[in-house]
Amino acid sequence: MQHLTVRPAVASEQKALEAVQWRASLNNPGDREHLLANPDAIELPLAQLEAGGVFVAEVTGSIKGFAAILSREDGDAELDALFVEPRAWRQGVGRALVDHCFSAATASGATSLHVVGNPHAEAFYISCGFRTVGTQQTRFGVGLLMKRGLP
Ligand SMILES: CC(C)(COP(=O)(O)OP(=O)(O)OC[C@H]1O[C@@H](n2cnc3c(N)ncnc32)[C@H](O)[C@@H]1OP(=O)(O)O)[C@@H](O)C(=O)NCCC(=O)NCCS
Repeated sequence: MQHLTVRPAVASEQKALEAVQWRASLNNPGDREHLLANPDAIELPLAQLEAGGVFVAEVTGSIKGFAAILSREDGDAELDALFVEPRAWRQGVGRALVDHCFSAATASGATSLHVVGNPHAEAFYISCGFRTVGTQQTRFGVGLLMKRGLP
């Protein structure tokens, strides 16, 4: 995708980014019913935006996706959210967001970026340099514990 840039999100984008999350999640066949039954699962807290760990991918001012990282107690970072506009899927937006998050995390001292991945996204995460290290029960099923960085 041409002219894709990734930048920190601003608090005023909260609703627009939650809307991206809705559109992306509803396009996952396995997640659709869970989300429609549990709409509270879609939330991007203002505090998270204000803390500076949310990043937006855009092309000439048009938002294509966003990602969020959080610090972990072990000093590493957690990829807490990653959502791309369905119309922009398979154009490198997700990979650009992951790479940006990994750079931001390692610049802050983390040695690895972790994610609890939805099984349908495993091939994507592996393509982005993650490896699967376990599983974890989540609210909507089994998630894959995945990690990119030092062992
Ligand atoms: C998962 C998601 C973030 C991927 O974003 P994307 O912008 O489409 O991903 P990219 O274009 O950067 O893909 C990079 C590579 O990952 C792999 N990949 C991406 N989507 C894939 C899919 N559906 N199936 C298999 N491989 C896939 C491919 O190797 C791809 O490279 P290629 O297109 O050159 O073959 C996006 O589909 C999405 O927002 N899904 C809904 C929300 C979600 O599931 N988020 C993750 C929750 S854990």
